[in-house]
Amino acid sequence: MPDVTSATELLLCGGTGDLGGRIAARLAEHGIAFRALVRPTSDNTRLESLGAELSVGNLIDRASLDRAMGGIRTVVTTANSMTSALAGDRSGSLAAVDVGGNENLIRAAEAAGVQRFVFVSSAGMTDLMVGLSPFLAAKRQTEQTLRGSRLRAVLVQPGPFQETWTSPETGIWPDKRRAVVFGRGRSPSSDVAMDDVAEACVRLATMADPPEAIQLGGPEELTRHQVIDVFERAYGGRFRRFSVPRAVLRAGAQTLRRRRPELASVLGIALVRDLEGARVPPAALRQLGIEPRPMSEHITQMAQAARGAASQAAGPGSPAGGPPISL
Ligand SMILES: NC(=O)c1ccc[n+]([C@@H]2O[C@H](COP(=O)([O-])OP(=O)(O)OC[C@H]3O[C@@H](n4cnc5c(N)ncnc54)[C@H](OP(=O)(O)O)[C@@H]3O)[C@@H](O)[C@H]2O)c1
Repeated sequence: MPDVTSATELLLCGGTGDLGGRIAARLAEHGIAFRALVRPTSDNTRLESLGAELSVGNLIDRASLDRAMGGIRTVVTTANSMTSALAGDRSGSLAAVDVGGNENLIRAAEAAGVQRFVFVSSAGMTDLMVGLSPFLAAKRQTEQTLRGSRLRAVLVQPGPFQETWTSPETGIWPDKRRAVVFGRGRSPSSDVAMDDVAEACVRLATMADPPEAIQLGGPEELTRHQVIDVFERAYGGRFRRFSVPRAVLRAGAQTLRRRRPELASVLGIALVRDLEGARVPPAALRQLGIEPRPMSEHITQMAQAARGAASQAAGPGSPAGGPPISL
């Protein structure tokens, strides 16, 4: 790993999240000391076991961010309100956290003389996408604030995450052999593995001369129908496919925009992915020395893990594990 001192000079915001947690684990693996901004309600068990220094705060509380910045030279942030908001948490709105909170973080970093600010944003922020997704509109606004700041900005723009878009939250239930198709399901998408994005974030935070913006995509281009085909082969059996028409996605994104902007964002993102696809090249990951993992490998591993769990539950000698899966 490149030049990083042993003192805690890196602040990670969002370290209790899914991607954020993977970044935290990699920082620890590489022996990079870091401080983590955590909310009073966060579950910090994993961060504590990794040896992170904790600083209690909140993106919507500027004073807490000023406190967290002491001695910090690099900020890495994945923090966002989507997961909490989708789970019904009303303590921080998308506008307060993803617009105002990110601006607070940028201003606190500037005031503390931070040198580098790695912001996990998103690829594919076309005008149509930003118009239909308040969440991605907030990302674009934060990118603009960062570009106009005194900080050295590193805008990380990943494609859709493999783990997110193969989960029940986005309509795939392998155990029930069911899957939702958003719109027609025929546009290609090069979804990226979260572990590859996490490793890229660590390299971008620590390398000598990082790019100002970088797009991170996976190596395979698959449509939603092709993703479900891979599930069928990996799990052995047909999946029932439920289609949500484009008109329904559009109406939902527009109607819920004010009242439930996080839900409107999910519908808007699903619609625009179906209309425009989400092709993000894997070249930049390779330039960072990371060989991007294919989506089909991720699905195969899911199926293998499910068979392993089923065979364990059934006890020794059970045939539930089945033969190894090949695609
Ligand atoms: N999913 C995709 O397909 C995709 C594609 C491209 C980019 N991205 C981006 O990748 C990132 C995903 O990160 P993730 O998986 O780690 O997200 P996550 O699992 O939803 O975690 C969100 C994190 O933000 C923290 N947080 C929420 N509100 C906060 C506040 N007011 N102040 C401080 N911290 C707060 C949470 O803390 P608590 O533990 O206290 O709740 C948690 O650590 C996001 O920036 C997302 O936009 C996602």
